[in-house]
Amino acid sequence: MTAHPARLHGLLHPALERRRPAETALAQQAAPPGFLADVLAGLTRRPKGIPSKYFYDRQGSCLFDRITELPDYYLTRAEEALLHLAMPEVAGFVAPRTQLIEFGGCSPRKARIVLDAMERPAAYVPIDISAETLTAGQSLIRDYPGLQVTPVAADFSAPLRISLPPGPKLAFFPGSTIGNFSPADAQIFLRRVATLVGRDGALLIGVDVKKDPRILWRAYNDDAGITAAFNRNLLTRINREIGAGFDPARFHHFAPYNEAEGRVEMHLVSTDPQAVYVAGRLFCFHAGESIHTENSYKYSVLEFRSLARHAGFKPIRTWSDRHFALHYLCVG
Ligand code: AVJ
Repeated sequence: MTAHPARLHGLLHPALERRRPAETALAQQAAPPGFLADVLAGLTRRPKGIPSKYFYDRQGSCLFDRITELPDYYLTRAEEALLHLAMPEVAGFVAPRTQLIEFGGCSPRKARIVLDAMERPAAYVPIDISAETLTAGQSLIRDYPGLQVTPVAADFSAPLRISLPPGPKLAFFPGSTIGNFSPADAQIFLRRVATLVGRDGALLIGVDVKKDPRILWRAYNDDAGITAAFNRNLLTRINREIGAGFDPARFHHFAPYNEAEGRVEMHLVSTDPQAVYVAGRLFCFHAGESIHTENSYKYSVLEFRSLARHAGFKPIRTWSDRHFALHYLCVG
């Protein structure tokens, strides 16, 4: 049985919707757990919002890779340069046969910089909500003899139910993805990481630094429109995976720096009054109404160290080029 074409565009009346459980299941097939519930809850809230963790379907991951190559998106290049600089020293802190546990496992390039400096790493454990981004880790197997590559498909914004074999552990959280959490949630997350890596564990984490808002504006509002396409792709994904009738062209990309909150925000702003079916429910937007799609918090070096201390980590060393910071922290 194929899905009703109208269903895919979210055009069915809600009453009709309830009589078509099989088709609903079919349309939802590719969606990660929680996607439908999070989207419906987020569109019901005021202001409207959708969690940024859902950006990364195949197309979204591809667009994000293109963002990292943009001249004004300095984060990825800065972090890679800092990793090269830091790893000789970090390697001195890390025991042989350490397990490397990466959160948001979509960066085998960065993982390689870390693994290259480690002495006979025992395992590489990328953890990510999207199984798609995890397959990239497989390419490491042939280059690191004795390395166990065990991807874990898990949502790390929820409690970590992962059991790892005994032995020393280094957590790795690159990309400033920590910035997607509010500071309070970041602290909760870091506490869970500390528990996961244990008493002799450590964390290597990349964090974007507060800076001139004009630099931040350019990093999130590129002229080529790649970041706008990345933002709008969330609507395309919702259309396809949970059945909705969004016209992405009727939402414009808006990514200001909120100085009071210390974060770049991404929004999709309705260009005109409109009503959109999402999973059989109708949602109304007035002209200029926003769907808040991402927060990207920025931390000064001292702010982040203080946050990490409150989560049970001891800051050991920070490498920074003033735009970006790489922190090495120990538990206890
Ligand atoms: C992957 C979350 C770190 O916040 O800079 C890039 C995502 N959003 N451009 C970031 C993103 C817009 C990115 N993180």
